[in-house]
Amino acid sequence: LARGAEEPDLEGRHVVVSAGGTREPLDPVRFLGNRSSGKQGYALARTAAARGARVTLVAANTALPDPAGVDVVPVGTAVELREAVLRAAADADAVVMAAAVADFRPAAYAAGKIKKKDDQEPEPIVLVRNPDILAELSAHRARPGQVVVGFAAETDDVLANGRAKLKRKGCDFLVVNEVGESKTFGAEENEAVVLGADGGETPVPHGPKEELAETVWDLVAERLG
Ligand code: CTP
Ligand code: CA
Repeated sequence: LARGAEEPDLEGRHVVVSAGGTREPLDPVRFLGNRSSGKQGYALARTAAARGARVTLVAANTALPDPAGVDVVPVGTAVELREAVLRAAADADAVVMAAAVADFRPAAYAAGKIKKKDDQEPEPIVLVRNPDILAELSAHRARPGQVVVGFAAETDDVLANGRAKLKRKGCDFLVVNEVGESKTFGAEENEAVVLGADGGETPVPHGPKEELAETVWDLVAERLG
């Protein structure tokens, strides 16, 4: 049984959750995007609000109803998501990066629609790196003791990849999902392991995204003390 619903253990806390997937525009009608639905981030926002937190939900291109009592900040690109998250994080007790942030964006934006030309192959799309928001949040905590949580979808040696990523990012917890066919993207359910910077490992059995969200908040609430 999740502790959440009955116990307002996040009362007086401000938490920031990012959700969805960023879109990086190429021209006025096209973008590079990803398949993140935002459901896990919305589940995190709902459950935190139910546990008494003030919640800022930075939502990248989601098509989900605003959770009741949650401050929703819509964004499009990774650069916009970074700005919104950093602004909200300034007075936050915890930040959870559930959004799928595009690693790269087109180096150039065409103000007019890119047209095809007869007898000519298309120009290659040149990409540049986006800022790593989770690494930045972790390295420059807006307040002492702020808890920073990341998400990672991995294949192959999921735990080893997760451990390495947790260290690289410098966050307190990394929620590691195994991805494969039909797993995770757009699904109602999730299965994961939450890795802690202290070496902790909390398995979350296959179940609704709310269950995983409650486990994340259990760990965050415990860390906040
Ligand atoms: N993330 C971020 N900024 C980025 C990329 C990712 O804040 N530019 C965050 C995601 O929101 C997620 C975590 O970092 O919480 C891990 O994302 P992931 O894509 O798994 O990490 P990467 O470092 O981009 O590694 P990979 O090369 O495996 O994509
Ligand atoms: Ca990535």
